[in-house]
Amino acid sequence: MQGSRNSAAHPYRWRRGAGRPYGAGVSWSTRALTLDDVPRITAILGEAEAREPAEQHFDEDELREMLTGPGFDLERGSLGVLADDGELVAFGALGVRTPADVWGCALYGGVATAAVGRGIGTLLVDELTRRAVGLRDAHDPSLPGEVALWIPEGRRGFDALAQDTGFETWRWFFDMRCQLQGDAPPWAGADRDPDGVQIRTWRPEDDEDVRSASNESFADHWHSVPMDRARWRAEFAESSLFRPQYSHVAVLDGDVVAFVLVEEFPGETAVNGFRTGYVARVGTRRAARGRGVASATLARTLTVLLAAGHERAELTVDAESPTGAGRLYERLGFVQVRRNRMAGRRFPAADTPSGTAADASSSTAVRAAASDAAVSGDAGIDTAGRPLGDGVAAR
Ligand SMILES: CC(C)(COP(=O)(O)OP(=O)(O)OC[C@H]1O[C@@H](n2cnc3c(N)ncnc32)[C@H](O)[C@@H]1OP(=O)(O)O)[C@@H](O)C(=O)NCCC(=O)NCCS
Repeated sequence: MQGSRNSAAHPYRWRRGAGRPYGAGVSWSTRALTLDDVPRITAILGEAEAREPAEQHFDEDELREMLTGPGFDLERGSLGVLADDGELVAFGALGVRTPADVWGCALYGGVATAAVGRGIGTLLVDELTRRAVGLRDAHDPSLPGEVALWIPEGRRGFDALAQDTGFETWRWFFDMRCQLQGDAPPWAGADRDPDGVQIRTWRPEDDEDVRSASNESFADHWHSVPMDRARWRAEFAESSLFRPQYSHVAVLDGDVVAFVLVEEFPGETAVNGFRTGYVARVGTRRAARGRGVASATLARTLTVLLAAGHERAELTVDAESPTGAGRLYERLGFVQVRRNRMAGRRFPAADTPSGTAADASSSTAVRAAASDAAVSGDAGIDTAGRPLGDGVAAR
């Protein structure tokens, strides 16, 4: 992280452009994000990646699609922080999950390198937590709520921000990678169809069957809620990231019993200079498990990715997968390349005795700077040694 956590030891001078210093008294204003901010948001995420690499590269189209997708409400669930000349120096947005027994959302955001070390990350987290309470109240105040952050290992500033703002680690996930080009892969010759099962490329008419298989299989996955049709379609069939030609289903007696869905992140392809197939979702219906169906479907997928010239396949797996997904991936040649943690902050239902928005928004910053009015960098926000947020992005 470029900005220091200890501003006393390393006095911070905020410089931009031709080196114009921003000292005491600099003010920021905040407003909701709009789609016009996407180029600047992309640049801020690029700066976060340059400061503390986590191999996360985004392009504008991907971010625009995400911010207009289900669960995002820029007017009520986002915040841009602007310097006095109107330039966006930080952003945050909430992506609301399908509400279930708990109302939940993920918080995404980032702070430009020129603005780290000023408490802006804290402002974002606290203010957006307050917004999350409001969104929960609008949906159903009787539900408990939660805000989650996805923190790739290596994003130290972001990690510290999460700790300082009261987020607790809920779960670890591993990014795993399978090098496709090079030595003979461990799945070579292993991609035969298990008895009675036909493995084939995903087709549009499979989509509802795959959603049903996914909802059934992910009932055994931590923190998963069933996906409704609109969210499912936005996530895969209608997403520009989805790669149907590399995605596969396993069919038994006419039903989809397992699936492997592949995505590609064009921002990463552009930076890396080679293609990576991202295995976004793997699942097998309960009745078909333990007979090699997922292994064979994934092996077929890897074979096709290799033949199409991909350098790598990658995926993210729950470190404590109760169904042993990590073992399956290791057998097929995936190795762990990074750990990520999901951290969260919970707030109670509004109709419980202590359940108020103020309980969730407990830190100094949000009480001092909880509105869209201009906030002073020296008055409203604790800048003394506060760490700041880096790029936040769950994939
Ligand atoms: C993880 C998951 C996809 C595995 O599906 P599956 O079709 O049962 O997978 P496989 O049959 O290929 O492998 C599972 C086990 O069966 C074993 N197996 C494979 N072929 C077998 C056969 N013919 N006979 C008996 N056992 C067999 C495998 O060795 C493996 O053993 P392990 O658990 O000790 O590693 C499935 O359990 C699931 O849907 N889980 C919930 C969703 C999820 O977590 N997805 C992954 C998200 S990262």
